[in-house]
Amino acid sequence: MSTHFSHLQASSHGRRSTFAHGRELLTQRKAAAPIPLRKSTPARSQVRMLTPSDVAALVRQRGLDAVLRELTNAIERDFCRWAEFDKTPRVAAHSDIGVIELMPTADATHYSFKYVNGHPSNALQDLPTVMAFGVLAEVATGLPVLLSELTLTTALRTAATSAMAARALARPESKVMAIIGNGAQSEFQAAAFAAVLGIQDFRLFDVDAAASHKLAAHLRRMGLKASICASTEIAVRGADIVTTVTADKTNATIISAEMLEPGMHINGVGGDCPGKTELAAGVLRAAQVFVEYEPQTRIEGDLQQMPADFQVTELWQVLKGQAPGRKSAEAITVFDSVGFAVEDFSALRYLNNAASASNLGQFIDLLPSNPDPKDLFSLVA
Ligand SMILES: NC(=O)c1ccc[n+]([C@@H]2O[C@H](COP(=O)([O-])OP(=O)(O)OC[C@H]3O[C@@H](n4cnc5c(N)ncnc54)[C@H](O)[C@@H]3O)[C@@H](O)[C@H]2O)c1
Repeated sequence: MSTHFSHLQASSHGRRSTFAHGRELLTQRKAAAPIPLRKSTPARSQVRMLTPSDVAALVRQRGLDAVLRELTNAIERDFCRWAEFDKTPRVAAHSDIGVIELMPTADATHYSFKYVNGHPSNALQDLPTVMAFGVLAEVATGLPVLLSELTLTTALRTAATSAMAARALARPESKVMAIIGNGAQSEFQAAAFAAVLGIQDFRLFDVDAAASHKLAAHLRRMGLKASICASTEIAVRGADIVTTVTADKTNATIISAEMLEPGMHINGVGGDCPGKTELAAGVLRAAQVFVEYEPQTRIEGDLQQMPADFQVTELWQVLKGQAPGRKSAEAITVFDSVGFAVEDFSALRYLNNAASASNLGQFIDLLPSNPDPKDLFSLVA
C-alpha cells in the first residue's frame, strides 16, 4: 500500500516543536483523562474520538435525511476520483460462523482503515451482526487524526452507497421498494432511498416477524408507508427496487430468477463474504451487474458464484460517464454490494469535517507526547 506516497515526508523539526507544544498543554491536566473539546485546544498528538453517541448526536443535529444525502454525494465524489485511491481487496479472517475484516485505502492526503466483523448468529448473544471502528490519518506524517465508531456509520454509508448506485441504475420513476431482511441495516436503507430517490412505499419481509414489525414501526414514524408481507415472493411482486439485506452464512437463494420483473433494480447487500450469497446465479445471468471494486467482489459478492469471465461494470465508470448504466427501461440491474474501503474513507472524512465544525467528540491521548520524539524511553524511565 501507498508506496507512491513515500515522497511526502514531514520534517522532524516540525514534529518536535508540535510535540513540545503538546507537552505544555498536557502538563496542565491529568494525562489519562479525556478532554472535553470546548475547554482546551488539543495538542497535535491528541486524536479526536467519536463514539456511537457522538455520531448519533451529529445525525440528530444535521438531520438523518441531510446526512444520508451528504454522505451519498461525498461517496460519489470519491468514486469519481477512483484512480487517486490505493485499492486492495479487504483482508479477511474467516471462521465457520463469521468473518473479521480490515479495509484500508489512501489517497495523496489521507489514509484510512476500518475494522469490521460479520457474525450472523451474534443476535443469540445480544450482539450486533456487524460491529466496526476505524481510523483516518494524515499521509504526510502518518499521524492519526480521527478514531471513530463505525458501526452506526457503516449502516449510514452502506445505505448511502446503495442509494448512490440506485440513483444511477434504477428506473427514475421507481416508487416501490421491497426490503428482504429487516435487521440493523434495514431502516438506514429505507431512509436513504427515501431521502435520495424519494421512495415512500416499502414492502417488508423477514423470517423473524418481530424484525419486520420493528422496521415497519420505525418507517411509519418517519412518515413512510410500510407493509409487512408473508413471503419474499409477495414482497418483491411489483416492486421497482428490491433490497436484500439478510444475514446468514450460507449460499441462500433469497431472490430467484423467477421473481424478476422487467425493469427491476436489485440492491444486493447481504451477499458479502465467501460462502454467503443471496441472489441465485440465474438472477446475475439475467441482469446487468454493477460492482464496487471488481477484484474484491469476485471473492465476496454474489458474483463469487459466476465464472471469472462473467462481465461486470465497476460503478465509478458509470458515475463518471465512462460506461453505460441501465441499457433500457426493461433491463434488470443488479448492484452486487459488498462494501468497499473508499466508502469508509469518505465517511471518516465526512465525520471528521462535521465533528470539527460542531465540536463533537473528545480528544484522547492515543499517542505519546514526549518532547523529544527520539526519547520514547523517557515515558517509562
Ligand atoms: N454490502 C455492505 O456494504 C454491507 C454492509 C453492512 C452489512 N452488510 C450485510 O448486510 C446483512 C444485514 O446486516 P444487519 O446488520 O442488518 O444484520 P441483522 O442480523 O441485524 O439482520 C439480518 C436480518 O436478516 C434476516 N434473515 C436471515 N435470513 C433470512 C431469509 N432467508 N429471509 C429473510 N430474512 C432473513 C434475519 O432474521 C435478520 O433480521 C449482513 O449479511 C451483513 O453482512 C453488508
